[in-house]
Amino acid sequence: MADDLLSQIRLNGAVPRHVAVIMDGNGRWARERNLPRPLGHRAGMKAVREAVEGALEAGVEVLTLFAFSEENWQRPAAEISALMQLLEEYIAREVAELRHQGVAVHVLGDRTRLAPGARAAVERIERETYDGARLALNLCISYSSRGELARAARLLAEEVLKGVKRLEAGECRLSNFLLWQLAYTELYITPVLWPDLTRRDLFQAILDYQGRERRFGRITA
Ligand code: IPE
Ligand code: MG
Repeated sequence: MADDLLSQIRLNGAVPRHVAVIMDGNGRWARERNLPRPLGHRAGMKAVREAVEGALEAGVEVLTLFAFSEENWQRPAAEISALMQLLEEYIAREVAELRHQGVAVHVLGDRTRLAPGARAAVERIERETYDGARLALNLCISYSSRGELARAARLLAEEVLKGVKRLEAGECRLSNFLLWQLAYTELYITPVLWPDLTRRDLFQAILDYQGRERRFGRITA
């Protein structure tokens, strides 16, 4: 149980509105147990449920999970198909509960590269959970932050060309996941392999965040 951490979070007050996690370590988790890699990915599904439950309990409004990157398409075909299969299985298994819990699922990334079954599953979960009002769950699948920025830049350029928007100078800095959004984000690096993640870990991260001073480039008064 993690109620001790949750009470401390409530005492501290401000909870981050948006928590984003890179799901990583499934392969290492499996290797540590002499299991085939797909079993690590399967164990990772349980961690998704943990993270969702923890986010709901803590009152996080947006949970973004980096599940599969554009670069991950370079993995062996057998691993990719195991992952796609798990995605479909996850959706079939979780959609009713997510809907019941008020979780709205959004899938970010280039879904045109997904196999038809996986793509249909993604569209189904978005459709069936769209009115969830407690938590937005962003699943980044076939996602690339550079691709997202390039697309945003293209759409903006199109609007400028059409005269919908005027050009104003802006700036962005690059790093890798959610490049744009991470500019002043508090980062929390954990050694926990994704399949081992529990809501306690999520709560620890929130507590760590609550102990920080966010200055956004200013100095303390
Ligand atoms: C994360 O675990 C899952 C995906 C990227 C799909 P990894 O598969 O990257 O696990 P490690 O890094 O080999 O342990
Ligand atoms: Mg990895």
